[in-house]
Amino acid sequence: MIRTICTQNYDEMSLQTANKIIQLVNEKKNCTLGLATGSTPIGTYEALIKAYEENRVDFADVTSINLDEYKGLAPTHPNGYRYFMDNTLFRYININPYNTYLPDGLEMDPAKACSEYDHIIEQYGPIDLMLLGIGLNGHIGFNEPADHFSTGTQLVDLTESTIQANVRFFNTLEEVPKQAYTMGIQSIMSARQIVVLASGEAKAQIIHDAFTGPITPFVPASVLRLHPNVTLIGDEAALHLYLNK
Ligand code: GLP
Repeated sequence: MIRTICTQNYDEMSLQTANKIIQLVNEKKNCTLGLATGSTPIGTYEALIKAYEENRVDFADVTSINLDEYKGLAPTHPNGYRYFMDNTLFRYININPYNTYLPDGLEMDPAKACSEYDHIIEQYGPIDLMLLGIGLNGHIGFNEPADHFSTGTQLVDLTESTIQANVRFFNTLEEVPKQAYTMGIQSIMSARQIVVLASGEAKAQIIHDAFTGPITPFVPASVLRLHPNVTLIGDEAALHLYLNK
């Protein structure tokens, strides 16, 4: 059963999510957070920074493991996820940069990149709280619709819809990477607690489908209904079809 928190707007969604994370970090100083990129968690990260500045939370002993990274993008590439995390959250809080992990986008050998990341997940896991956004096609991390649920870290070919959704961050369609490394579904499902964020009308249909339709790898987020501790936090615009409002 998915616990659902429907907020009036994006800011309230962000605040509630940040408070959940703050509570966890205060209870377990050396916890492992699973973190996501995309536009949806930005407000949550801003609220975490504010809480840190106000001495309400201390990230000194926290480890973070992100979901994914584009293959071929350097850590300094402004559209890469390492750059995003560094400049949206990490540099503004006291997390130890050496304790923040993302797949190595510059590793051209997929087998090596994936096994190294699986090793990190094994070493620092289980993830205490996994934060997730959701793609328009139901992807989580970069686990695109497929005929099976993935297990460990894998290299994926991004679908046309994902490439189109990401073009807004790049100058041209050609610049959008066509492949990414992503944490596998089984690794995501191994987290002790999962928090899924959704904001805006554009996500209303996929939230409805993922949480009321069949549980199938063709809608990867639907698998979350099999996890014992998932909280969906979304604004009314994203949740109204699901909640039948
Ligand atoms: C990308 C990321 C996902 C994210 C999704 C949705 O594909 N790999 O982790 O959930 O985008 O992004 P947004 O939050 O911008 O809608």
